Amino acid sequence: MDALAGLKTITSESVQVCLTSPPFYLMRRYGTTSAWPDGWHGELGHEPHPNDFVRHLLHVFDEVWRVLRDDGCLWVNLADTFNNKQGKKGTTNAPNGCNGRFAAGGKGYATALRKQPEFFKHYVPGIAHKSEMGVPYRFHLAMTDPALRRFVGAPEGPQWTCRRTIIWAKSLVALESQKAEGNAMPEPTRDRPSRNYEFLFLFSKQPDYLFDRSAIDVPSRASSRNEDRANAGSVWQTQAKVLSDTDPGPEALLRINPEASPYRHVAMWPRSLVRTMLLPTTREGDTVLDPFAGSGTTGQVAVEMNRKAILIESSPACQAALTDRLKRSNGQLFY
Ligand SMILES: C[S@@+](CC[C@H](N)C(=O)[O-])C[C@H]1O[C@@H](n2cnc3c(N)ncnc32)[C@H](O)[C@@H]1O
Repeated sequence: MDALAGLKTITSESVQVCLTSPPFYLMRRYGTTSAWPDGWHGELGHEPHPNDFVRHLLHVFDEVWRVLRDDGCLWVNLADTFNNKQGKKGTTNAPNGCNGRFAAGGKGYATALRKQPEFFKHYVPGIAHKSEMGVPYRFHLAMTDPALRRFVGAPEGPQWTCRRTIIWAKSLVALESQKAEGNAMPEPTRDRPSRNYEFLFLFSKQPDYLFDRSAIDVPSRASSRNEDRANAGSVWQTQAKVLSDTDPGPEALLRINPEASPYRHVAMWPRSLVRTMLLPTTREGDTVLDPFAGSGTTGQVAVEMNRKAILIESSPACQAALTDRLKRSNGQLFY
């Protein structure tokens, strides 16, 4: 079911936490189009302008506001996209028949996407060629400032409090030693640094909300006493290790057999990331919501942590994936 339609079926103030990774602007195609309240009909993430995309996200998160408890919160994972004139070989927005490399997903991904009529992303007039479009910043500002909400053309709606922007680091480089650790997606471009991070925005409905920081505190480096803990901070690194779904470690990702899996192009969250978002913001028995559930990582981790999960997902391939995953975790599914 479409995120907006699915959210409308959920009881008001019944959810403790929403955590979600919507499609990023002009990145992947999931093959799901829907009708939006402003009259546009199309796939979320492929709107003519980033402000249109942000407006559609606001429609979704206005409903999330309604279903969240007043002491609840919302985590949104986003990253930016470059504006690029079509025709540049080697990028995901290359024109028809490009035989070049594709920055995201490799050759199989490119071949699969080429079969879709609207594969190639468009150029956004008004934003410079090769510039980041600032999509996460537009989104942050429109969620938190009514003037910016109007700027993207959204009707009046809730004003969120952004409590922290967290950097989810896929890899890190220590400047002094020049040593890299982690495993970010390589990028072929030579005239800028690659992006080895994504944002996690933490929003609340009101200044006071359920957040137990001690649940994610880390061992203190300043103290020799084992029990001393310190603030985990706001740069969270994952190692991008690919382990099996049944691996007990919190770092695990779903192992995907690239030949067999129909949903290998969903950008899946590592389980450790979901766990770190849920630990301070939920208690056992609480209800967790993901309106862009993908392969169901949120649901799987929530169920493992004795939370209830409501998952919404519009792509049939992803629904099949998350049904399969949740069955293995003994979870109950609604979509
Ligand atoms: C980045 S993926 C989420 C991945 C997920 N966090 C995981 O770990 O698997 C975004 C998902 O949103 C879904 N989607 C796109 N547009 C949607 C819509 N309008 N309503 C519901 N789901 C949608 C896509 O099919 C895709 O599975």
